Amino acid sequence: MPDSLPFDGMRFRPLTVGDLPLLGRWLSHGGALEWYSFGVPPTAEEVARKYLPRILGDEPVHGHILELAGANAGYFQSYLLEDFPDHPAVPGADRAAGIDFFLAEEYAGRGLGPRAIRAYVQEAVFAQPGVFECWADPDPRNLRSVRALQRAGFSPVTKTAAEDAILMRIPRDEAVRGRGAA
Ligand SMILES: CC(C)(COP(=O)(O)OP(=O)(O)OC[C@H]1O[C@@H](n2cnc3c(N)ncnc32)[C@H](O)[C@@H]1OP(=O)(O)O)[C@@H](O)C(=O)NCCC(=O)NCCS
Repeated sequence: MPDSLPFDGMRFRPLTVGDLPLLGRWLSHGGALEWYSFGVPPTAEEVARKYLPRILGDEPVHGHILELAGANAGYFQSYLLEDFPDHPAVPGADRAAGIDFFLAEEYAGRGLGPRAIRAYVQEAVFAQPGVFECWADPDPRNLRSVRALQRAGFSPVTKTAAEDAILMRIPRDEAVRGRGAA
């Protein structure tokens, strides 16, 4: 793989059953292992239990594979916060969506994350009419993610009471205007 990434060839396609082994591999390495799997690689059954309902439409979470020049590079998902009343960002949130994401380890640390987050918010999240803001809730110790979100135009709003997440927000008009340096 070349050192510089072809950022202009970025697209998001819906997650399929055939992607489950790929998710399992990604969740077993690097930052995704640390921040999503909490250090324990998931089994194929665990991956299917978590992601299959999202593919089948049994859970209101939309999963997408990020492709870069035709290669699978990461996973993004979005959902409406009103479908998850326990989400920490819900109080005061107005017609809001939430996102989560992880890159394949070989694509991390190369400047892709901020651009991909920006593109996902613009192309997937705010493509839904009536969604006015988007939230992310990185662990405060995950400095790379916090920084990537800032580069994508998100601003920190507050921390959860347990201080285990920073609640970060981008309003529709800022995302559509293309604020941020990513
Ligand atoms: C989080 C993630 C999407 C970021 O994407 P990325 O392409 O790796 O990010 P970048 O390489 O562009 O780095 C983002 C910024 O963080 C900075 N950074 C990297 N490591 C850092 C660290 N340990 N401390 C502080 N800043 C750090 C980079 O310098 C860069 O900032 P800059 O553009 O101002 O120089 C990606 O690393 C990832 O998938 N990580 C694992 C899963 C995860 O943490 N998901 C998010 C859960 S909320």
